[in-house]
Amino acid sequence: MRWLLKFAAGALLAVSTAATTSGVPASPRAANRRYVEERNGVHYNVFEHVATRSKLSFVKNSGICETTPGVNQYSGYLTVGENMNMWFWFFEARENPQEAPLVAYLDGGPGAASEYGLFTQIGPCHFVNNETTPSLNPYAFNNYANMLYIDQPIGVGFSYGNETTNSTKAAAPLVWNFLQAFYDNFPEYENRDFGIVSESYGGHYIPEFSRYILNQNAAVVRGDLEGEEIHMVGLAIHNGWFDAEIQEKANIEYMYNNSYRQIINESIHDELLDTYNTTVKPALDLCHTNGTSDNCYAAYTSYLNMIEYPILAAFAERSPNGYYLGDIREPYSRPPSTYVAYLQRPDIQKALGAKVNYTDQGGAIGFYYSGDDARSFVPQLSDVVQAGIKVLIWTGDADYVSNWYGTLDVAHAVEWSGKDMFATKTLEPYTLNGVEKGTFKSLDNFTFMRIYEAGHNLPFYQPEVSLQIFKQFMGTGSVLPT
Ligand SMILES: *[C@@H]1O[C@H](CO)[C@@H](O)[C@H](O)[C@H]1NC(C)=O
Ligand SMILES: *[C@@H]1O[C@H](CO)[C@@H](O)[C@H](O)[C@H]1NC(C)=O
Ligand SMILES: *[C@@H]1O[C@H](CO)[C@@H](O)[C@H](O)[C@H]1NC(C)=O
Ligand SMILES: *[C@@H]1O[C@H](CO)[C@@H](O)[C@H](O)[C@H]1NC(C)=O
Ligand SMILES: *[C@@H]1O[C@H](CO)[C@@H](O)[C@H](O)[C@H]1NC(C)=O
Ligand SMILES: *[C@@H]1O[C@H](CO)[C@@H](O)[C@H](O)[C@H]1NC(C)=O
Ligand SMILES: *[C@@H]1O[C@H](CO)[C@@H](O)[C@H](O)[C@H]1NC(C)=O
Ligand SMILES: *[C@@H]1O[C@H](CO)[C@@H](O)[C@H](O)[C@H]1NC(C)=O
Ligand SMILES: *[C@@H]1O[C@H](CO)[C@@H](O)[C@H](O)[C@H]1NC(C)=O
Repeated sequence: MRWLLKFAAGALLAVSTAATTSGVPASPRAANRRYVEERNGVHYNVFEHVATRSKLSFVKNSGICETTPGVNQYSGYLTVGENMNMWFWFFEARENPQEAPLVAYLDGGPGAASEYGLFTQIGPCHFVNNETTPSLNPYAFNNYANMLYIDQPIGVGFSYGNETTNSTKAAAPLVWNFLQAFYDNFPEYENRDFGIVSESYGGHYIPEFSRYILNQNAAVVRGDLEGEEIHMVGLAIHNGWFDAEIQEKANIEYMYNNSYRQIINESIHDELLDTYNTTVKPALDLCHTNGTSDNCYAAYTSYLNMIEYPILAAFAERSPNGYYLGDIREPYSRPPSTYVAYLQRPDIQKALGAKVNYTDQGGAIGFYYSGDDARSFVPQLSDVVQAGIKVLIWTGDADYVSNWYGTLDVAHAVEWSGKDMFATKTLEPYTLNGVEKGTFKSLDNFTFMRIYEAGHNLPFYQPEVSLQIFKQFMGTGSVLPT
């Protein structure tokens, strides 16, 4: 969930020794150290990574969540710099892990832990009907890929320490560092296809992180930077928040005229559009041309106060039985939150090797004041599309927060050689075993999809078709109706 929503909702509702070779280390890798350390009764495999001056310490095969026989998992920390500890949880693919791609999952927020997506959407296990213990998820994305869940920035989920990251841009180098240490500890993944999956605020994170990775790759190739080239092939963002200028306007349209129910009437629609034109858009233009924190924070508060609150008031008024911004249907459904209490159990934390209590949503407060929400990540997305990386923008069509009107407009705003042709293409039906589950269009490696009867956390609502799409996307790159 984006900050906007939390804020708005609150206002309206209440191993052994070193593997070093003898002699003088020829490269940083040769000087890396590996050992086992016991702390509070937990055995951590430790890997000290010289190139990034970081340390990985993790538990192997905790037995939590992924209980499929023979599927390995690793959970623990990357420690960088002064007291910065980034949590990761890695599950090998259930099939063919030696060849399967490596896919990172980073949740949105800012401040949402990746365990949210793991337990409610795409992880190896889930909590059906609010059960208090998990059961295996047959549609887990690690059916196909090796899945790496990361809690970032510091302060989110099981990550802990010095929380200084206050923007998407500032968060990127830490993720790159993490991936470098990960590759050096798990070198078998270095040349694998690498992908990233995210949701919601990931529309900010992933374009920026991906562009950063491409730039670092270029520096490695030039010989200006020591590190692993990351073989990034694809990124998939569901219900993403990329650009407030485009998406706030679409919010007004969506609440007026969507395929489920009308939330605002014509007069409110026209009033909001006028406010958008005269006040919000100019504030966002200033944020985009002069990106000071003050300007962007002012733009953020302008759409929060002048568009979001009126819409939320109308939504509340029309929803006597309660409402959820991530699913405008009546009745709505939302992912269970029972996994939070599970992750806050001392026995579970000990098994996983977690060193702090679990924070589901939090940290990342600095993003709010730096105006990060209002900044556009369409330029970064454009660079990544231009680089020929496979990009999938997919959206559950019952979500208001990052609704499909807005994400389609974002897809059309991407600058690349196929821009005009992509815009003129019509959406075609997308089927799963002959049943229409949504619509889509693709050109080269760029795909947009609308998925029916799905809210903000798309794979929670449509798990089977989500897995089909994920496999196709990370496989050939082309989504094909079945
Ligand atoms: C946080 O980081 C700063 C700068 O690296 C360092 O001076 C400070 O001691 C750190 N604080 C904690 C609590 O680790
Ligand atoms: C799960 O719990 C939530 C919150 O208490 C509730 O709204 C929802 O109806 C429950 N879902 C099921 C399937 O019992
Ligand atoms: C509502 O959306 C539909 C489908 O895009 C469109 O055909 C129709 O003209 C819109 N209605 C209004 C009142 O804007
Ligand atoms: C539109 O909705 C607003 C807020 O619910 C209401 O006050 C107003 O009377 C409505 N206007 C029309 C023309 O229905
Ligand atoms: C807002 O601006 C758009 C584009 O400039 C224009 O088409 C629309 O009529 C304007 N709406 C209002 C209510 O001012
Ligand atoms: C950006 O805004 C600040 C304060 O609002 C102002 O001092 C500065 O001159 C502006 N910079 C540009 C490039 O417009
Ligand atoms: C974690 O925090 C929750 C909520 O405050 C609390 O109920 C739980 O006991 C804590 N768990 C641990 C291991 O301290
Ligand atoms: C964000 O962090 C940077 C670097 O620590 C700092 O210079 C800047 O003032 C912070 N911005 C805000 C709005 O807090
Ligand atoms: C699409 O992606 C494939 C596989 O990554 C790549 O080989 C190809 O060059 C890309 N196509 C374009 C048009 O960029």
